[in-house]
Amino acid sequence: MTDTLFLQFYSRRKSTIYNLLNGFSDTYDLCRNHGDFVWMKDEPDSRHWYDYDRYAAKPLPISKGTIHVSALDVNHLYQCWVWACQHPDIHFVVGGPVASECDIESPGWDPAYVRVEDPDAIPPNLTLTGKSVEQWFGIDDFPGPWRLEIPTDIPAGSRIYFSYTLDNACFWRRCIYCNIGLHDLRHVRRRRKMDFEFKALDFEGTKLVRLNTGSIEPRLIRELFPALPCGNGFEYRTFMRAADAENRALKEAIIDCGGRFPDMVLGFGVEYPTKRMLAHVDKGFGPDEIIQSMEICSEGGIRANGNAIVGWNNLTQQDVKELESFMKRLPTGAFKNMQLRWLLAHPRTAIHDQYRGRPIRFGPFYEGFSVELDDPQMIELNRQSAEIFEHFASVKQYKLEGLENVRRHLQASNG
Ligand SMILES: C[S@@+](CC[C@H](N)C(=O)[O-])C[C@H]1O[C@@H](n2cnc3c(N)ncnc32)[C@H](O)[C@@H]1O
Ligand code: SF4
Repeated sequence: MTDTLFLQFYSRRKSTIYNLLNGFSDTYDLCRNHGDFVWMKDEPDSRHWYDYDRYAAKPLPISKGTIHVSALDVNHLYQCWVWACQHPDIHFVVGGPVASECDIESPGWDPAYVRVEDPDAIPPNLTLTGKSVEQWFGIDDFPGPWRLEIPTDIPAGSRIYFSYTLDNACFWRRCIYCNIGLHDLRHVRRRRKMDFEFKALDFEGTKLVRLNTGSIEPRLIRELFPALPCGNGFEYRTFMRAADAENRALKEAIIDCGGRFPDMVLGFGVEYPTKRMLAHVDKGFGPDEIIQSMEICSEGGIRANGNAIVGWNNLTQQDVKELESFMKRLPTGAFKNMQLRWLLAHPRTAIHDQYRGRPIRFGPFYEGFSVELDDPQMIELNRQSAEIFEHFASVKQYKLEGLENVRRHLQASNG
């Protein structure tokens, strides 16, 4: 093994899916020329996230040299920090989504997802960067074919989930709780040539391809969907805004596919689906457009997942009423899953200044907070909203996820 490694994490949590965080697939040959690849299982149990000793005990295959890491989640960032503290003879160069930067001109690392609370606690052998691998090595974006070597311990017949980058940003960038919109546009990479190299992947099993972007652009819906390889165990996942322009593009793509639309799950951020709340968070569409998206998906046989948020400090009784009428209008069976989340205030988002909560810290990093509500009326309106999502799960035939977590936050808000 050389003394330069490219480390990618992979994870298997509750589900039966192996999630490959294949951050080096776009630069596979480039990385190969500089060193070796390593796959590392990440900490599966979030109760042990930020347990220093547990992370320090994770062995590394070299004792000196350079390890480039593609980090997706905050726990990967923490893992790298712990390793860097433990292994002064290894230089860790950490990039990937969680290392994205707000302002690449600012001296040092200016992260979009976390705040560094104690810069002195960052050891000198830890370099955090929002640069892509190409920018790091000073070459053009997407220099060679996309490639993936699957970890050898994944049994044939499993379900694997991996990413095919469309871009590393979001074209919309406006939702007030979201930090994807904070990325410095000078770091944005956009795939121009769609060769779908993954179609040659030698793996017996279900291959879930994440068409990676914050939110897919209407142009790509039109161009990409009809061109995607179908069959052979390939399924696709991507996020689409439920706005008019995307709805029109989706309709056209369905027609273009002529009955052979790829096996796909589209993720929709319905957030809090009333006119006032969608305008408040700046989604750029209203509840009617979400209903329209669901009608298109239902008619086109496309599976849809919803993402919703509660924990708001500005709900009105009218919002709760409108949420209920939205649910009544929703086509039955359109959403397969509904993921309900409690509002998280990321540093630098507008939400962060409008709420309070217990800070989440790990090592020298600060991640924001889960919002806490103290007004009994707001707690009650959010409780009613969560109940509506729960009630309509059986009526509209979606699987509701995240309810326990939301209940925990409602309980904590009650003191
Ligand atoms: C990765 S985002 C992409 C969503 C997609 N771009 C869209 O807007 O439809 C997936 C979902 O995570 C949830 N989410 C994002 N930021 C959040 C936050 N700060 N607090 C709670 N949920 C959040 C939202 O429900 C969002 O729709
Ligand atoms: S559209 Fe999605 S990814 Fe883009 S800013 Fe809004 S929530 Fe974030």
